[in-house]
Amino acid sequence: MRYTISGLATLGVLAFSASTAAAAPNVEALAALGKQVFFDEISLPPRQSCASCHAPENGFTAASALVNLTTVAVPGANPHTIGNRKPPSAQYAASSPNLNGGFFGPNCSDAPFGLFCFGGVFWDGRATGTKIGQEVFEGDAALAAAYSGFLGPLADQALGPFANDVEQNVPPGNTELPGAEAVCKAVAKARYAPLFKLAWGHKPNCGPATADLEFKRIAVAISAFEHSPEMNSFSSLRDIALANDADGKFPLDDFTDEENLGHELFYNNVDRGGAGCANCHNGGPNPFIIFLPPDFLPEQNPLARGEEPDQVYTDNSFHNIGLPPNPQAANFDPSNPDLGLGGFTGVPGHDGDFRTPTLRNVDMRKHRFFPKAYMHNGYFKSLEQVVHFYNTATSKPTCNLSGASAAYAIANNCWPQAEVTPVLPLTGLVGDLGLTSQEEAALVAYLKTLTDTEVVQKPKPYNPGHGGHDDDGHGNGHGNGHGNGHGNGHGNGHGNGHGNGHGHGHGGHGH
Ligand code: HEC
Ligand code: HEC
Repeated sequence: MRYTISGLATLGVLAFSASTAAAAPNVEALAALGKQVFFDEISLPPRQSCASCHAPENGFTAASALVNLTTVAVPGANPHTIGNRKPPSAQYAASSPNLNGGFFGPNCSDAPFGLFCFGGVFWDGRATGTKIGQEVFEGDAALAAAYSGFLGPLADQALGPFANDVEQNVPPGNTELPGAEAVCKAVAKARYAPLFKLAWGHKPNCGPATADLEFKRIAVAISAFEHSPEMNSFSSLRDIALANDADGKFPLDDFTDEENLGHELFYNNVDRGGAGCANCHNGGPNPFIIFLPPDFLPEQNPLARGEEPDQVYTDNSFHNIGLPPNPQAANFDPSNPDLGLGGFTGVPGHDGDFRTPTLRNVDMRKHRFFPKAYMHNGYFKSLEQVVHFYNTATSKPTCNLSGASAAYAIANNCWPQAEVTPVLPLTGLVGDLGLTSQEEAALVAYLKTLTDTEVVQKPKPYNPGHGGHDDDGHGNGHGNGHGNGHGNGHGNGHGNGHGNGHGHGHGGHGH
C-alpha cells in the first residue's frame, strides 16, 4: 500500500473544527471517493455510471459487444440519446498535460498542425485542464500541496459526463456548472459520503452558493482515482517480463520470439525495416515531434526506446492517420465529418487530428472472443485489422463501395478514402510499411503483451465501520484487493500461454 492514512489523532482534532476546511490531506480517501463515484449510477434515470461506458474488464471501454460492432458510441442514461465517438480508455491518461501548443507556446490554436499540440483529454483534447483551479483548496496550503497534482485535464473531464444529455443526463440545475447540485446531493446522501469529509474536511454543502465548488472537488476525486496506482498498475506481461529480464533490455528473456520481433518493429522506423509505431505511440520526458517532410524524420527519442517502466505508448499529441469513415457509428453524417482537434480549435491544419490513445490494455477484453472497436469512430473491430491498415492504407486501391467496413475492405483488397484527407503526408508513418503478414502478426502479439494482469475491481460498498478510523484502510479492500490481484494476474498470464516464470520478483512491484 503506497498511501498512508491519517491517524486517529488528526481525526480527533477534526471533530472539533466544525465546518472550516481544515482537513489533513488524505490522498487515499480522495481516490477512494473518486472510485466510488466512478462506479455509482448517478444519472437520470439512475442506471448509468462512468463504468457503464468505461468497463474495467474491457480496458475501460464499452462493455457491450453489440455497441462495439455497431454504433460504437454507448447510449446515454436516457436510451434515446447517444453520442458519436467510441469511449477511449480512462486509464493511463494521468500523464497528459494541459492542452498546449508545444513549440508554438501555450495555445494549441497557435500551432499550425495538430502534431505540435500536446495534452488535454478526449479524442480532440477539449478537456484542456484549466477549468478547475486553486479555488477548491480555499487557501488551505496542506490540501493544495497534496492534491494540486490532480488538477488538470482529467479533473476538467470529470465535470462533463454527468449533465451531458447523451451521457448521465442529471438535471443541469441553476449554478454555473451544469449538474453541480445533482451530483453534490447524490454524493452527500451516498453511503460513501464520509470519504468526502475525510478527503476535504467537511461534509458536502450542496446549496446554490457552494455546489459548484463541491462538484469540482468531486471531479478532483475522480481524477485522483484515475491517477492512482490501481488505475496505473503497470502490471502487463511486458512490464513483468521487463522487470524480470536479466539485462533489463529488449529482446526479453520471457517474451516469445514473435513478441520480441513485434517490439523491434514497433520501435524501428520503416527505413530500417520497422513499422515506426513509436513515432507517435511513445511517451517519455522528451516527447518526440515529427518534423516533415519525412526524409527529416529524426532518430527516435533516445529517452523513449521502449524500456521505460512507465511507458504509456502515447505522445499525447494529435495526428490524422487517414482513417476511413464508419457509417455505422451513431450520428454519422457524411456531409459533416468529425474534424477532431480542428472542430475544437477551428484551425484548418488540425482537421482530422485526434489524440494518440494509449495502447495499454488495448487488447483487454472480458473474454477471448469479445469484440472491441478501435479508433475514435470504432471503424476497426480487431487489432489485426488495425495493423493491416497501418501497413497497407496507401498501397492498396480505393474501394469502389462507399462506406465499406474494414472487413469488406480487407476481403476486397482495398481501403476507403479517408473521412478527412490528411493535411500532412504520412509517408514512412502510415500506409505503406512493407510488412509481411508474419510481421503484422508479430505487432499484434506485441500489443497483446500490454494487457494488465491486475484488473480494477468494482469497489465494495463503503463500510464506515471499517473506514477512516484507523490504519486498516477504508473498508475499500486496498490491501486485500492488491494481494488478490497479483495472484489472479499470474493465473491469467499463464493462461495466455506465456509459460512459466512470470511470477518471479513481482513482489517488488510496490503496492
Ligand atoms: C455514455 C457513455 C459515457 C459515460 C457515461 C462516460 N463516458 Fe467517459 N467517455 C465517453 C466517450 C464517448 C469519450 C470520448 C468523447 C470525446 O472524445 O469526445 C469519453 C472520454 C473519457 C475520458 C478521456 C480519456 C482520454 O484519454 O481522452 C475520460 C478520462 C473519461 N471519459 C472518464 C469518464 C468519467 C470519469 C465518467 C463519469 C463521470 C465518464 N467518463 C462517463 C463515454 C462515456
Ligand atoms: C502518425 C502517428 C501514428 C503512428 C505512426 C501510429 N499511430 Fe496508432 N494511432 C494514432 C492516432 C492519432 C490514433 C487515433 C486515431 C483516431 O482515432 O482517429 C491511433 C490509434 C491506434 C490504435 C487504436 C487504439 C484505440 O484504443 O482505439 C491502435 C491499436 C494503434 N494506433 C496501433 C498502432 C500501431 C501498431 C502502429 C504501428 C504499426 C501505429 N499505431 C502507428 C497515431 C499513430
